[in-house]
Amino acid sequence: MKRDLLSILDLSKEELESLLDSAASLKASRAGGEPAPYLPGRTLGMIFEKASTRTRISFEVGMYELGGTALFLSSQDLQLGRGEEIRDTARVLSRYVSAIMIRAYRHDTIEEMARYATIPVINALSDREHPCQLLADILTLREHFGATEDLTVAWVGDGNNVCNSLILSSALAGYAVRVAAPEGYLPPADLVEEAAARGGRVSIAATPRDAVRDADVIYTDTWTSMGSEDEQNERVSAFAGYTVDRDLVDEAADDAVVLHCLPAHRGEEITDDVMEGEKSLIWDQAENRLHAQKALLVRLIGKQETLD
Ligand code: CP
Ligand code: NVA
Repeated sequence: MKRDLLSILDLSKEELESLLDSAASLKASRAGGEPAPYLPGRTLGMIFEKASTRTRISFEVGMYELGGTALFLSSQDLQLGRGEEIRDTARVLSRYVSAIMIRAYRHDTIEEMARYATIPVINALSDREHPCQLLADILTLREHFGATEDLTVAWVGDGNNVCNSLILSSALAGYAVRVAAPEGYLPPADLVEEAAARGGRVSIAATPRDAVRDADVIYTDTWTSMGSEDEQNERVSAFAGYTVDRDLVDEAADDAVVLHCLPAHRGEEITDDVMEGEKSLIWDQAENRLHAQKALLVRLIGKQETLD
């Protein structure tokens, strides 16, 4: 039976833990120069409706390092761009490749791909979630703090796809999530309820300061996600006061760290000095996309026991 990763909640707590253990061991063996030929002959089809630096490169390099191959498929170059249906593309790709990774505007598109594909489908960002990002984020927090259960993560900014996956991940990683977002940019209520129903601890704070007070982690992302570019000006106004700057970081716990999924807009959601500062785990976070996704790929299309 094929497994997909459309939402971070497609993994159980135990599966997430074992996946991150595998990621840590892949990271260590890579640092030691050991090869990791766990996916010989496997091919990942990577469909992109939107731009990407980290996701594209980490999946492509990851497949290469695992002994497999990745195909970059811009939706504009596929017949998809000329109206071929998702369900037809899903079935055809299933005859050629071992798994599909897709970055799409609409979450529905990814769900439809998964429904018709007979191979695993990975959500590489939709308007609803960005589960691969959270795999890397939780790996990063585990490396830094040892465990995630007792942490408080403050999200400051747009209640967007990354925020949604962070909220849902509270049910798996155990950390409390506090969200500060302006009126009109809060995460969907149903998603907060879903996280709570699965045991997540999520609250909405009145201000960025309330969210970050004594928090262990401050996480932010762009105010204008891909696809919302025409709202850029009104968003910059709406998010006034939501910049993660040194003053805000000082409200958090003394040993707090700062995350950003990137790409960043210095001077908007985060200041240059915070990005470059000693509390920033941003570059480890970006690197960990590679290790976490390699572990995911082995789990979905390899022989997991090779990594256990
Ligand atoms: N964080 C992230 O997904 O980055 P890209 O858009 O560059 O892939
Ligand atoms: N929220 C951002 C994340 C980019 C990785 C976007 O959707 O553009």
